[in-house]
Amino acid sequence: MHKRVLLLALAALAACNPDDVVHRVGWFATMRHQRSIKPYARPIPPVAGTVSITGVEPAADLTTADRLANSRTRTSESINRGRFVYETYCLVCHGASGRGDGPISATNGQTPPGPFFGVRSLVNDTIARRTDGYIYAVIVSGQVMGRGLMPVYGDKVRGNDRWDLVNYVRTLQAQARSGSGARR
Ligand code: HEC
Repeated sequence: MHKRVLLLALAALAACNPDDVVHRVGWFATMRHQRSIKPYARPIPPVAGTVSITGVEPAADLTTADRLANSRTRTSESINRGRFVYETYCLVCHGASGRGDGPISATNGQTPPGPFFGVRSLVNDTIARRTDGYIYAVIVSGQVMGRGLMPVYGDKVRGNDRWDLVNYVRTLQAQARSGSGARR
């Protein structure tokens, strides 16, 4: 009888992940089980009463986006910052000159093509005629703006960076018009 109980206990132990068992003993605590922020995970929400130092970040949706006012003047400082943010987050899909031909875009003209479908040009006439607010709102959430194929960037690009990015997209559009865009 005792033997059977022992066998059962051993079988139960074997079925467990050793990390799950071992960390129950205080001095064996492993670092695998912990409350940590994984890359690209949403940051912990700010403590109640926190005051924003980057200004209020307007929420955006399809009906109100066009009315958002760009709070950043198109200075070279703003455009340079926008360029840095663009190259960090957007270039992989939209490409260095904004034509939708970034390294992971399916329409980058390379063999084999990138895996990401549906990437749009940011420098054609249609998007050039869009308001700053529209571009801002797509950055915050493509989903909300009916652009469901684009991942959400509102949790990564924050504060002034969003408008600086809009300003840089305008620079790319101007370059495309004058034919001075990077590549092609
Ligand atoms: C992982 C690929 C990917 C990345 C990275 C990405 N986008 Fe997009 N973007 C897309 C796709 C796909 C669409 C088209 C979405 C749709 O039509 O549903 C799109 C659409 C857009 C549009 C709307 C174009 C139109 O014609 O209405 C804008 C503006 C835009 N992206 C800007 C940006 C900016 C700025 C960044 C950097 C923060 C960025 N995107 C990062 C994939 C991406």
